[in-house]
Amino acid sequence: MLIRRPDSIKPSQITPEHLFAQRRELLIAGLAAGLIPGTMAQAQRAADPESRQLAAASDGRFADLKRWPGSSTAEPTALEYVTQYNNYYEFGTDKGEPARNAHTLVTDPWSVTVEGEAENTGSFTLEDILRPHALEERIYRFRCVEAWSMVVPWVGFPLGDLLKRFAPTSRAKYVQFFTLNDPETMPGVRSRVLDWPYREGLTIAEAMHPLALLTVGVYGQALPNQNGAPLRLIVPWKYGYKSIKSIVRIRFMENEPETSWNMANAREYGFYSNVNPDVPHPRWSQASERPLGGGLFASRIPTLLFNGYAEEVASLYAGLDLVRNH
Ligand code: MTE
Repeated sequence: MLIRRPDSIKPSQITPEHLFAQRRELLIAGLAAGLIPGTMAQAQRAADPESRQLAAASDGRFADLKRWPGSSTAEPTALEYVTQYNNYYEFGTDKGEPARNAHTLVTDPWSVTVEGEAENTGSFTLEDILRPHALEERIYRFRCVEAWSMVVPWVGFPLGDLLKRFAPTSRAKYVQFFTLNDPETMPGVRSRVLDWPYREGLTIAEAMHPLALLTVGVYGQALPNQNGAPLRLIVPWKYGYKSIKSIVRIRFMENEPETSWNMANAREYGFYSNVNPDVPHPRWSQASERPLGGGLFASRIPTLLFNGYAEEVASLYAGLDLVRNH
């Protein structure tokens, strides 16, 4: 399905071009010198804005990626921000810790358990999950509840296409997702900062929406562990914490599922968590956001309802009080 939408953020609002170019040079030098973790292929991709976004990685599944026509036309945020400024509390709560610590995560072999209100439940290997689906590159805006944002070239396929293969029953009103919970490889789960495993949920209508992306890559190659390898969700109209990483369990449910940040603080984090500039977080405004990578001179930009995807998703919430159901 082809989705068109106006993109109201100009590239110049994301990153001034000369700063973007300077950062790219620094990044390439850093990658080449081994100062920044990454391969020469990554360095070369970073060197060339065209191939940076669409290069065929060594993994055949990433060859000949087509870019989704509805992609954001804003300049993607530089690779080093996407892969080194992360939230992945299983590997630490500081932004740099996931990139430093997540190398211990074992992503092969990987399997996903499917359970609950569906005809086809059981355990599926990652290969089973991915085989029928063509991957595509989708450049989405990504808005964290902490009021920073990025523009990211993800690689994946619509979540709904996978969920349909499990044949949800008529009682399946919600879908819940769980991240791996392994104290051996995830040092952060020994702290009680959240109730592990990390879990998230969507209504079935949200999960079936063509913008909800099951994601396996970024910047033309497989997801780095810190970004949620090997399989994560990206829900671009919701705050980033809904985009759960390293998924090992999918559960179809009749009732609204528990979600990690809502369990931690229900007043601050609702089930829906749609990006909404008119509903402030109890401790800060959500009216504007700081695009990552803009450097000292970057100005904040206005936050858009549903992160700019209102045309596509607003109908999901017709008649719903978005303040009460935040
Ligand atoms: N998933 C798990 N399992 N653990 C986490 O801590 N953090 C969430 C989300 N998914 C998180 C998670 C938050 S708060 C954000 S903003 C995004 O991942 C960050 O994704 P990124 O690091 O790829 O930018």
